[in-house]
Amino acid sequence: MTKIIAMAGKGGTGKTTTSALLTRYLLKKNQTPFLLVDADANANLNELLDLDVHLTLGQIRKELKGELPPNVTRDQFMELKIHQALIEETGFDLLVMGQPDGPGCYCAANQYLSMTMDKLAENYKYIIVDNEAGMEHLSRMNMRSIDYLLVTSDPSARGILTAKRISEITEPLGLEVKKQYLLVNRAPQPVPAVLQEKIDAAVMDSNMELGGIIPSSEELINQELSGESYLRIEDSADIAGTIDAIFDKILS
Ligand SMILES: Nc1ncnc2c1ncn2[C@@H]1O[C@H](COP(=O)(O)OP(=O)(O)OP(=O)(O)O)[C@@H](O)[C@H]1O
Ligand SMILES: [Mg+2]
Repeated sequence: MTKIIAMAGKGGTGKTTTSALLTRYLLKKNQTPFLLVDADANANLNELLDLDVHLTLGQIRKELKGELPPNVTRDQFMELKIHQALIEETGFDLLVMGQPDGPGCYCAANQYLSMTMDKLAENYKYIIVDNEAGMEHLSRMNMRSIDYLLVTSDPSARGILTAKRISEITEPLGLEVKKQYLLVNRAPQPVPAVLQEKIDAAVMDSNMELGGIIPSSEELINQELSGESYLRIEDSADIAGTIDAIFDKILS
C-alpha cells in the first residue's frame, strides 16, 4: 500500500527543506520507489535536489482543455503527458503541479488528472507532497487520506500555536489524516525550557505527536547557498544524524 506523507506549516518554516531531507532519507534506507509531488505554485523542491522542471500538471491541464491530437483518447493523452512531466531519477520521480487553475471550470480536466494520478500512485511505496503554506490547497488536491501529516513550525510561541491550528483544521477541511507530527525547526540549541514547555503543551492538547526538534543548522544554510543537491549531504553531517533519527521514529 502506498503511504502518503504531506507537509504543512506556515510560510518559510521548512516544508521544502524537510521534503528534500526526507528524499535523502528514503533513498538511504532503500524505501524506493517513491514519488515527490511539488504542490507549491512557486515550485522549488527541484532546486534543492538540483533537478530541472520541463512540464507541470498545470500546463497539462491547459492543454487538455484545447484540441487533442487526432486518434488519441483523453486517457491516452493524459497518460502520455504525465509520463512526460515525470522527472525520473534513480529511486524516485518528481512531479510538479505548477500554477493553479485560472478562472473558469477545469472540472473535466481535473477529473482526468486525478484518475491518472490515482493509477500512477500505485507504483510507489511513498508519495511525498510538499505544499505551500495554507491547508486549503491540500484539501483541493483530492487526496483520500494522508498517512503522515508533518506540520513544521518555527521555534516561537506563535509559531507553535499556528502549527496547532493547522493540525486542528484538517478535520473541518475533510482531510482524513492518520498520523500527525509536529516538527519544530530552526530551534536554538539547547532548546530553551520555555520553548520546550510550549511544544509539550501543544502536543498534549492536539492530535499531533512530537516528530522532532530540528536545530538551526549552519550546514543547511551553506547547503542552500551552494545550490548543490541536498542528496549530497554527507552522513557525517550533524544534521543528517538528527534528521535520520526523526524519520526513523516517524516512519517506524
Ligand atoms: N534547520 C534549518 N537551519 C537553517 N536554515 C533552515 C533550516 N530549515 C530551513 N532553513 C532555511 O529556511 C528557509 C525556508 O525554508 P523552506 O524553504 O524549507 O521553508 P518552506 O516552509 O518550504 O517555505 P514556503 O512556505 O515558502 O514554501 C530556507 O532558506 C531554508 O534553507
Ligand atoms: Mg516550500
